[in-house]
Amino acid sequence: MIRRIHMEIALLATCALLLCSGCTQQPVQAAAEGGLPGVKIPVGPIPGPQMEFKMPTNPYEENSVAMEEGRRLFVWYNCYGCHGGHAGGGMGPSLRGPVWIYGGDPAHVFASIAEGRGKGMPSWGTKIPQDQIWKLVAYIETLGTPQEPDAPHVAPDPQVKEKK
Ligand code: HEC
Repeated sequence: MIRRIHMEIALLATCALLLCSGCTQQPVQAAAEGGLPGVKIPVGPIPGPQMEFKMPTNPYEENSVAMEEGRRLFVWYNCYGCHGGHAGGGMGPSLRGPVWIYGGDPAHVFASIAEGRGKGMPSWGTKIPQDQIWKLVAYIETLGTPQEPDAPHVAPDPQVKEKK
């Protein structure tokens, strides 16, 4: 009987210890410094009653320095390894539009990068700072436009005769 009580005390002590180790742990910092947005960005229609939902906007929109940096980050983080050198597609889909699986507006592109996507897109939200993700978005939004930094060189079409 005494043995049993001893065991119970020991068990209780372990439980208390376990509980306490939980309370001394640092709170998860990911939300504060990582890239995951404060709100979930829905990919499809939102079920339930109509509610106000404001999509986050890119703080670097129209910022050409950020676009250049986004290009550098795209190479730096090996995005090109899966999406192709100029994001024209590889093992991962083309990001040069106009077809988007998960939406091509800045908020959805941000969510794809931060959260990752099911069929092979890693999530970067807890690995790289949020402002870098927005810079990547700024770059991706320029693809195929005259603002695109380091745009692919298009070889002249031999079929088209140059005007003399
Ligand atoms: C390991 C390979 C891989 C790497 C590295 C990778 N991606 Fe992806 N990415 C994919 C695949 C595969 C998909 C498609 C996922 C799906 O269909 O569910 C995808 C999807 C996306 C999408 C959504 C495309 C759409 O049509 O909606 C974006 C945006 C994107 N990636 C950006 C990036 C950026 C920026 C980086 C670098 C930080 C990156 N990816 C790195 C494989 C990769």
